Amino acid sequence: MSFPQIRLRRNRQNQWSRRLVQENWLQTSDLIWPVFVHSHNTPKTEIKSMPGVYRHSIDNLVRQAQHAYDLGIPAIAIFPVTPEEKKSEDGEEAHNPENLICRTVSELKAKVPDIGVICDVALDPFTTHGQDGIVRNGIVVNDLTLDALCKQALNQARAGCDVIAPSDMMDGRVGAIRDALDEAGHEQVQILAYSAKYASAFYGPFRDAVGSKSALKGDKKTYQMNPANSDVAIHEVGLDIEEGADMVMVKPGLPYLDIIQKVKAHFRVPTMVYQVSGEYAMLKAAAQNGWLDWDSCIWESMLAFKRAGADGILTYAAVEIAERLTQKS
Ligand code: PBG
Repeated sequence: MSFPQIRLRRNRQNQWSRRLVQENWLQTSDLIWPVFVHSHNTPKTEIKSMPGVYRHSIDNLVRQAQHAYDLGIPAIAIFPVTPEEKKSEDGEEAHNPENLICRTVSELKAKVPDIGVICDVALDPFTTHGQDGIVRNGIVVNDLTLDALCKQALNQARAGCDVIAPSDMMDGRVGAIRDALDEAGHEQVQILAYSAKYASAFYGPFRDAVGSKSALKGDKKTYQMNPANSDVAIHEVGLDIEEGADMVMVKPGLPYLDIIQKVKAHFRVPTMVYQVSGEYAMLKAAAQNGWLDWDSCIWESMLAFKRAGADGILTYAAVEIAERLTQKS
């Protein structure tokens, strides 16, 4: 049978019917909210290239986290804006137990204990050169960096972080961090591996937000993946799972939907996607110009991630999306 007996528009003619045949749904439980924390008392400062996203003081962040929790958002991912004077060549501040991220985690766990707290592991917020690892003779040295990453992960686990998220793309880091956590009795701390992380220009506004952009010398192409490749994403994710990752991530999001789909279909493990700063900025800028409708576009991008197979979505718009979901129900 074909047209005119078959008419695909029949199922689309009414709202109830469209709902009935809808394949993918967005829920608040799909969302992870990435947030920036700074060490000033000013409750929040604007990030020029990310309108509507702020760097928060610890106190304000705790309030925001409570709001996110009340809306039903399962987890937040916190990123520190490290004061310049605390940065160094090897990023030792990353394993200072009193650093901004640790103070934030302990406040959060004391005041909003039931929201999941995810902390990045990578040295770029702490190094003067803005690279994710330790640099010797102009090279990001893999194995030397592993030690530093393990120290950073342990430091964050001791502060009470629930999920360690290595975003550095060093070889062997998931296994090294898993061992270090287990040896120290943190066998319940989860690992969300930034497994398929591309050397993307879409991270620009994030680097503005944390102040690593002007510092960054060169690029990150010796460790982050080449945007032209997809087979190696499968290789990376496979190794991270073998090394003990509980969840994996594809990053960026919309330009890499094919990778999400492949990873999910291949491994069938919890797969997150990061709608990164540049994706957010792109949609915001167009919306502010009146060229795109923000609400519809952000919604559509979420459904695209679900359709591709993502189990969770890191998005700077998590709170406003959750607010909308709450109003709908
Ligand atoms: C740190 C890190 C980055 C992002 C998350 N963790 C930047 C980078 O790798 O340069 C980017 C997130 C975003 O753009 O929203 N390694």
